[in-house]
Amino acid sequence: MNKCGRKLWAGLALLALPAIASASCALPSTYKWTSTGPLANPKSGWVSLKDFSQVPYNGQHLVYSSTVNAAGSYGSMNFGLVSNWTSLSTASQNTMNLGTVAPTLFYFSPKKIWVLAYEWAATPFAYVTSSDPTNANGWSSSQPLFSGSISPSSPIDPALISDGTNMYLFFAGDNGSIYRSSMPIDQFPSSFGTSYTTVMSAATNDLFEAIQVYTVSGQNQYLMIVECIGSVGRYFRSFTATSLSGTWTPQAATESNPFAGHANSGTTWTNDISSGDLIRSTNDETMTIDPCNLQLLYQGMAVGSSGDYNSLPWRPAVLTLANPGSSTGNGTGSGGSGGSGSGEASQYAQCGGLGYAGPTVCQARQSPYKCTYVNEYYSQCI
Ligand SMILES: *[C@@H]1O[C@H](CO)[C@@H](O)[C@H](O)[C@H]1NC(C)=O
Ligand SMILES: *[C@@H]1O[C@H](CO)[C@@H](O)[C@H](O)[C@H]1NC(C)=O
Ligand SMILES: *[C@@H]1O[C@H](CO)[C@@H](O)[C@H](O)[C@H]1NC(C)=O
Repeated sequence: MNKCGRKLWAGLALLALPAIASASCALPSTYKWTSTGPLANPKSGWVSLKDFSQVPYNGQHLVYSSTVNAAGSYGSMNFGLVSNWTSLSTASQNTMNLGTVAPTLFYFSPKKIWVLAYEWAATPFAYVTSSDPTNANGWSSSQPLFSGSISPSSPIDPALISDGTNMYLFFAGDNGSIYRSSMPIDQFPSSFGTSYTTVMSAATNDLFEAIQVYTVSGQNQYLMIVECIGSVGRYFRSFTATSLSGTWTPQAATESNPFAGHANSGTTWTNDISSGDLIRSTNDETMTIDPCNLQLLYQGMAVGSSGDYNSLPWRPAVLTLANPGSSTGNGTGSGGSGGSGSGEASQYAQCGGLGYAGPTVCQARQSPYKCTYVNEYYSQCI
């Protein structure tokens, strides 16, 4: 099928319009991914890079990460800005003086301030603020974010998200439960205090840690992913909800049909698909993802790695969804090109091939990706 005409027109329409017409895709019920190999090695002194948090920043990716040194001590860093994932291998790795472990980075738009939330401070969760998140050491002093306890376990891996009215804090406990706190958005940033609600419970390994919660663009839907311990490796289960204060419904929630794991990662370099962040399409507190262009920045480790958990050689890598739902652009805004195949595919994403119905234009903001013919069934933005 020749889509050149439409491609050109869509490209012109995108350039000409300040507001991009929105297209959206339903989340698939069975996810299929392609993966990069490991994208970066830790700099000297560190054995692993973990727990990635990513925001788009001036058309580039800004990534924060936990670090672990040879003694098993945790710290944190950011990478120099990269415009594509290949560049992560040569990006600077900037050590933070303050160890912000399991970082969650976003721009809190109501107060026009960057927030970095993390764990293991004077309180179980803490946050720092900054006007320049590219500066690894430009953050404020640490402030309490949550001081509750879930004894005998401990709160782990804070995930923040807002629906515009409230700010929510979701977290795990390495013990099979998912917890939630909230506050009115105009009180943020401040401490959620000590109280929480238990949102879900399962066997310890089936709701373990590394929880993330996102707004699914154009779908009136929220997506929660939680890292679990499987028989082959770490994997993510997913849940959806129509309200952040509501009930979560299992979506792709088994090890054989996971959100992302050994069964569907499309890669053999790692059996583990572990702690990271879906690539967000906005930098703000809505934690918005584009379901037509899903990518997961995750930590994996070479098959056969062994040893103490804190010494394992975790590395960053990126999964790209190979089977996004068909695009249902609704032509919001004048001149929207709408129709199936609108929207933009991100780096490594599929952009053509027999039977493919997703976006055929590679993300303009991140040129120079080009939709490149791989085979009859697969063209890819590379
Ligand atoms: C990735 O970005 C770097 C630095 O901007 C550039 O030199 C390189 O060509 C890009 N690679 C790809 C595959 O786009
Ligand atoms: C997790 O810890 C909480 C707090 O102690 C407890 O209420 C809950 O039952 C635990 N869940 C599991 C599955 O152990
Ligand atoms: C169309 O897109 C707009 C903007 O994302 C969204 O608010 C609206 O709900 C969508 N309408 C339909 C019918 O999907």
